[in-house]
Amino acid sequence: MPIILPNNKLEEIPSIVFSELRKGASRKKHPFKNVVLTTLSKEIPTSRWVVFRKLTLEQNLLIYTDSRTEKIKDLRKNSNSGLLFYNNKQGLQIYFSTVSIIHQNNELTKKYWQGIAGTSSENYTTIYPPSTPIKNIYEGQKTDKDLNDKHFSIIELCPINMSILQLSRDGHIRASFSKINNEWEGSFIVP
Ligand SMILES: Cc1cc2nc3c(=O)[nH]c(=O)nc-3n(C[C@H](O)[C@H](O)[C@H](O)COP(=O)(O)O)c2cc1C
Repeated sequence: MPIILPNNKLEEIPSIVFSELRKGASRKKHPFKNVVLTTLSKEIPTSRWVVFRKLTLEQNLLIYTDSRTEKIKDLRKNSNSGLLFYNNKQGLQIYFSTVSIIHQNNELTKKYWQGIAGTSSENYTTIYPPSTPIKNIYEGQKTDKDLNDKHFSIIELCPINMSILQLSRDGHIRASFSKINNEWEGSFIVP
């Protein structure tokens, strides 16, 4: 069922979108729990699924990763990135163009590491860095004895533009917004 309806005003759309995203970050089975992150290596784009962990009060989006991954290398050189969500039940696509802040070994990573230690810390503590060629799959599962947070990173993605497409039998609705002085300004556009 569509969530953005023909009688919704343009200025109501960002709050509808962010309230859906907040649900996505907090519910394991929500279609917005995973998101496609696109980064650029020189001019070549790479996309991959990541888990959407949290929406901050500033409406920035947090994801966790290992600081040795390609996405981090890309973002350190060029922080321009993209986040693509789709809710198949609602027919709602959301795309953000973003700039990113990488957190490592700071208050934020220390805070969230507490929720990871003992559950999925092996995702951030492999002996060989992610993407290293290995002779067998077991080499890829070897972790440091000390499962510490030295490679644990949080990418904070700060939206600059937002584009939404609501598919609907009554007529698709598409709108594009830019974040200007912390407010979303935009327009409906042809779907
Ligand atoms: C559903 C799903 C969720 C994933 N979540 C994450 C994640 O939260 N963080 C992460 O670094 N990789 C995650 N991955 C793995 C990435 O898609 C990717 O394979 C890995 O991070 C290496 O990417 P890179 O070499 O381009 O940096 C996830 C993969 C899938 C299929």
